[in-house]
Amino acid sequence: MNVVCLFGSPRKKGNSAWMAQQLLQRLNHKKGVKIKQYYLAKMKYSGCIACYACKTKRQDCALKDDLTQVLNDVKECDVLIMASPTYYGEVSSQLKAFIDRTFSFLKPDYVSNPESSRLKSGKKLVFIIAQGHPDEEFFKDIFPRYDFFFKWYGFKESYLIRACGVYNMEDVARRDDIVAQIDKTADSLLGI
Ligand SMILES: Cc1cc2nc3c(=O)[nH]c(=O)nc-3n(C[C@H](O)[C@H](O)[C@H](O)COP(=O)(O)O)c2cc1C
Repeated sequence: MNVVCLFGSPRKKGNSAWMAQQLLQRLNHKKGVKIKQYYLAKMKYSGCIACYACKTKRQDCALKDDLTQVLNDVKECDVLIMASPTYYGEVSSQLKAFIDRTFSFLKPDYVSNPESSRLKSGKKLVFIIAQGHPDEEFFKDIFPRYDFFFKWYGFKESYLIRACGVYNMEDVARRDDIVAQIDKTADSLLGI
């Protein structure tokens, strides 16, 4: 099982990174699991420039920067983990720029073609979100919004690990309810 993990927070030891690392540790125990990790805030790349080259003359993104390898790895992976803080009710700008670049995963006739994705179907998505606000009703739209687009790409199964009311670095480490979510997700991914 090939796993790609994208850390979307500039805080390498923040709450979303902690949750993602805990999940990776559990997956890593199983033989045959290969993990690639990317700290997006340490990388140099831009968002989509709407050149539409991926719809007119090529199969991949025309921009060549640090995301090129990441996009290629995501094409090949079985499980994609995206971990992000909530910033102004959204994912971080680092993760959003990556998501915009995944536009290259869609075929030119993606609007009318039922087989719209260039990716092989059956990948799994894990979305990990940390937010300072303790009320779960706030910003609950983030996951379904991106889950919709990744389903379009052919990600069949998806999981959400979400910690609300975590503000300072590693607040989440004291939360047993979140550890239970991480355990459950790891078991599902490993087929336990
Ligand atoms: C620029 C910025 C914007 C933020 N916006 C929100 C927000 O809209 N809603 C919220 O609940 N928390 C917000 N927060 C708090 C973070 O979501 C919270 O600290 C979270 O635990 C950060 O995740 P991390 O530790 O993985 O970086 C914001 C923090 C920053 C720095």
